[in-house]
Amino acid sequence: MSTSSDVAGAPGGLLQYVRRRLGLAGLLLAAVSLPVSVAHAQLPTYDVGRAPTAGEIEAWDLTIPPDGEGLPPGSGTAALGKQVYEERCAACHGDKGEDRKYNALVGGQGTLATDKPLMTVGSFWQYATTLWSYTRRSHPIDEPGSLSADQVYAVTAYVLYLNTIIGEHDVLDASTLPQIRMPNRDGYVPDPRPDVGWTSKVVVR
Ligand code: HEC
Repeated sequence: MSTSSDVAGAPGGLLQYVRRRLGLAGLLLAAVSLPVSVAHAQLPTYDVGRAPTAGEIEAWDLTIPPDGEGLPPGSGTAALGKQVYEERCAACHGDKGEDRKYNALVGGQGTLATDKPLMTVGSFWQYATTLWSYTRRSHPIDEPGSLSADQVYAVTAYVLYLNTIIGEHDVLDASTLPQIRMPNRDGYVPDPRPDVGWTSKVVVR
């Protein structure tokens, strides 16, 4: 079986190699060796779709990185978020975020290295901005995108408050949210595998 380095090093180069292996006629080889721009011009077009508008891109480009870049104006506290939580979240996650039917949102701190790790926002997540970002993008899961920025700040504050990470009246906004230090912030290390890029994995300790 040839490898790609065999191909690259084959006498006469790639086209001769292909000809040898596949016995392709000169006609096809001529087409293969056409300049890229000509080949592109010959691609069929189907007259469907259009370039997205700036507004459409903005509506989909919702990921907020750990430094909070892109967080919109608005604010909220746990005291305000309690109502949002009870109306929009509790049915699936339990009154205090404890229900494991889907995902518990609260508890589990200190359990990651035990036989029964409980991975929650409070025990496992690295950045508070992820909670904001995830909630805005995907939740409530039956009505994603329906919460206002103020409601997302408030319900994020409430989930963090239930995890005893912030106080009931601490105000979350674009500047305070990225400053929150999550309990498992240092529980991750860069993944050294060269093929996976800059991702990270959890250190269980
Ligand atoms: C209709 C049920 C439902 C409602 C209502 C709901 N969730 Fe969820 N939630 C889910 C399900 C199901 C998942 C798991 C999704 C997955 O794994 O992809 C989830 C996952 C999550 C997670 C990720 C947990 C983790 O550790 O992976 C968070 C955070 C969360 N929900 C927060 C909320 C908040 C905040 C609200 C209210 C604004 C809410 N959810 C309302 C069903 C719901």
